[in-house]
Amino acid sequence: MAISRGHLGVAKAIFVVCIALLVNAVKCNPHGGSRRGSVVEIGGLKSYVSGPSHSRYAVVLASDVFGYEVPNLRKIADKVGAAGYYAVVPDFFNGDPFNSSIKGFNEWKAQHPPAKAFKASISVIKALRRKGISAIAAAGFCYGAHASVELAKTKLIQAVVFLHPTDIVEDDFKYVKVPVEILGGENDVLVPPTVIKKYEEILSSRPEIPSFVKIFPRVEHGWTTRYNSTTEKAAEEAHRDLLNWVNKYIKHKKKA
Ligand SMILES: *[C@@H]1O[C@H](CO)[C@@H](O)[C@H](O)[C@H]1NC(C)=O
Ligand SMILES: *[C@@H]1O[C@H](CO)[C@@H](O)[C@H](O)[C@H]1NC(C)=O
Repeated sequence: MAISRGHLGVAKAIFVVCIALLVNAVKCNPHGGSRRGSVVEIGGLKSYVSGPSHSRYAVVLASDVFGYEVPNLRKIADKVGAAGYYAVVPDFFNGDPFNSSIKGFNEWKAQHPPAKAFKASISVIKALRRKGISAIAAAGFCYGAHASVELAKTKLIQAVVFLHPTDIVEDDFKYVKVPVEILGGENDVLVPPTVIKKYEEILSSRPEIPSFVKIFPRVEHGWTTRYNSTTEKAAEEAHRDLLNWVNKYIKHKKKA
């Protein structure tokens, strides 16, 4: 069968579109994780961002020790971004997340103390403010809870969510100034329900600070990012709880 010029033109067009799609897929997917966001620099830190950059509302997701490249964390950022927020996952570790095949945990942590992540998070928040963002929530995963709780003691953020939080102490909750959500796990041996209950007691003695505390049954430490087919439903529920809290206190308005 003879191929007419018309057919050739269509074939060419299809070829061009395919290449464009391929280039875009590679560009948007440098780590095999999310296809939605991208990596930009914010406040001097490389950050994975997702969602509308013109949003007036941002959520900073403070990673656990495994850092900002973890695909499941980026997926959460994508969910937050899809809800209309500018979701930001900063690289607090400057390209050196914890990896047990590279160095031991104590050595790694001495090089990356939580206080350093808090300090870095301040420059991220200030850069977001300069961008015109008017309200910011922080969500702290495990190690990321330290930066989040310290931010929550300031007026730099307007709401905070803790997911299986480590590196914080009971007394922190005496000083938080913004609405607090805490999501814990029944089988979390690092942060058992007894510890979460202590946090809850302090928060309930401070009715001026809105708070919500929930223990998820049959899940272990880190389940909101490290889930399997059994615990995935709980993880998704936690992601929804995170968004509900942010929606409630960051006053996100649907795009005008
Ligand atoms: C940890 O380090 C090893 C050795 O460099 C590497 O092969 C592996 O991919 C790293 N793990 C992650 C999750 O990056
Ligand atoms: C999922 O992980 C939990 C612990 O978090 C474990 O008890 C369970 O057996 C795992 N399920 C599957 C299907 O791997």
